Amino acid sequence: MADFKKVGIVGIGGLMGHGVAQVTAAAGYQVLGIESQQSALDAGVRRIDDSLSKVVARNVKKGKYDEAAAAAEKAEIMGRISTSLDIKDASSCDLVIEAIPENMDLKLDFYKNLGNIVASNPECVFASNTSSLQITQMAEISGRPEKFVGLHFFNPVQLMKLVEVIRTDHTNDETFDRMITFGKNIGKATVSAKDTPGFIVNRLLVPYLTQAMAMVDRDEASIEDIDVSMQLGAGHPMGPIHLSDYIGLDTCHSIIVGWQKDFPDEAAFIMPECLDAKVKAGDFGRKTGKGFYHWDGEKKGERA
Ligand code: CAA
Repeated sequence: MADFKKVGIVGIGGLMGHGVAQVTAAAGYQVLGIESQQSALDAGVRRIDDSLSKVVARNVKKGKYDEAAAAAEKAEIMGRISTSLDIKDASSCDLVIEAIPENMDLKLDFYKNLGNIVASNPECVFASNTSSLQITQMAEISGRPEKFVGLHFFNPVQLMKLVEVIRTDHTNDETFDRMITFGKNIGKATVSAKDTPGFIVNRLLVPYLTQAMAMVDRDEASIEDIDVSMQLGAGHPMGPIHLSDYIGLDTCHSIIVGWQKDFPDEAAFIMPECLDAKVKAGDFGRKTGKGFYHWDGEKKGERA
């Protein structure tokens, strides 16, 4: 089973895309990071640089190597990442991972175009990092449904150990097996998921987050008490309101909007009023500096 040589990451500027590019390059793959705007490309490279600095500094602290070896490792990983503003360059890759915004119309346009661009390279595998949209629809419009999977990472990609590999009824065994191997090669634990709403993790996690926000709507507890309760009472690394800010309230919101449209009878898919209000006000959490809490970069502050 052939391994991939060059991996294209579309949307390298984003929270997920930069992390996927980083762990892929760190595992030894050549990476081509693609964006449509120079500013997004620059943001992605800056994010990878910042994160790699933290990773190697931690390794120095642990005594794994000295400062000089840390700088060399960082330079080697950065050296495996090239960038492009032209999606046509994806045709030089044998795996393309897409991490563009969570909007089905946008994704369908993207895959129709990508399928045409990469038509001369029929072996190229496509993988979507969508967190909640249906993989089958994207696979069908791409022109290569048998070589299409979902590859769902978790935030922050550099630290979270899981990747869900989602197969549709069209995905062939070879493609699925190659992607499981790829997931392991980049240091992740892999699980096999079906093309159901939210796959495994988000089907459980997102209703939990929105239930916490519904408690806020009902004024049953403060956001701080909800967070501390789940941290200290259930052993979660972050409470649900904190985690929602961390993931991005816009992301949580768009997942619910999509699910309510496609599954109007599913009682677990609720839109809390406070989430809707925050998103309408442009307060998306960590990424905008304000959500349920104030944020100073990565650091959570007081309630907003
Ligand atoms: N890159 C590299 N290193 C990083 C980093 C990054 N992006 N972010 C944090 N670190 C490092 C820190 O520098 C720190 O290093 P030192 O120990 O050397 O100081 C170390 O990681 C630990 O970080 P923190 O001290 O800031 O905090 P922590 O111990 O609480 O760990 C966490 C942070 C791993 C994010 C943890 O809080 C956690 O697991 N939270 C839950 C995250 C989660 O549930 N993610 C899934 C969200 S759902 C999703 O993503 C799917 C979706 O589709 C919506």
